[in-house]
Amino acid sequence: MQQQPVLIAPSLLAANFSDMRSAVRVIERSGGDWIHFDVMDGSFVPEISFGCRMLEDLRPLSGLPFDVHLMITHPEKHVKDFIRAGADHITIHVEAAVHIHRLLSYLKDNNVAAGITMVPSTPVSELVEIFPLVDIVLVMTVNPGFSGQTMIAECLKKVVQLKDIKKKMGYNFYIEVDGGINRSTYGRVLDAGGEVLVMGSSFFSASDPAAEIAFIKGGK
Ligand code: DX5
Ligand code: ZN
Repeated sequence: MQQQPVLIAPSLLAANFSDMRSAVRVIERSGGDWIHFDVMDGSFVPEISFGCRMLEDLRPLSGLPFDVHLMITHPEKHVKDFIRAGADHITIHVEAAVHIHRLLSYLKDNNVAAGITMVPSTPVSELVEIFPLVDIVLVMTVNPGFSGQTMIAECLKKVVQLKDIKKKMGYNFYIEVDGGINRSTYGRVLDAGGEVLVMGSSFFSASDPAAEIAFIKGGK
């Protein structure tokens, strides 16, 4: 994957579910780079959001990369369906799968960017063995499950660690950061080394979502 300056991935979890078509249009018109899909199963996290049918129906409406964050147990049972539905990137939780190596290899074999993520209590050291396989490392800066939470700033230490590991080892995975990103917090995320910023409530509750993206992209 080609690295660029900061990318923004608005999350549909914070959109109005009665009008996802417009939500995708707003992302496109506002300069969003990826469309972030928060898939929740009511088991790995408390809420249930949506499944692969959402991607399938929205796929014809956008050429932007569909960035799928699977907050589900047994992701290995579902990745095939998400690939078929049009996912470009699939990120799985290290806490949710045992045979992560096999799963990440499967994604790469199917030309899907392979992402790994961890909840705030999981250290970066859990990922060491799989760094060579990943295209995206997603740092959760809230406990997964809801949009609109306050960022847990301590999690940004993991972003710094990942930046150092990338540099030292020559990896080229994206460092994506997810949870509580807004005008007050984005600067710390960029300073730590965040490269892709997920924005849920701060994007969809803004009166001018394009201005939020312009502010962040122009801010550094
Ligand atoms: C949290 C999700 C996030 C969430 C971010 O479980 O993974 O992607 O939608 O929402 P905000 O930006 O409102 O914290
Ligand atoms: Zn997410």
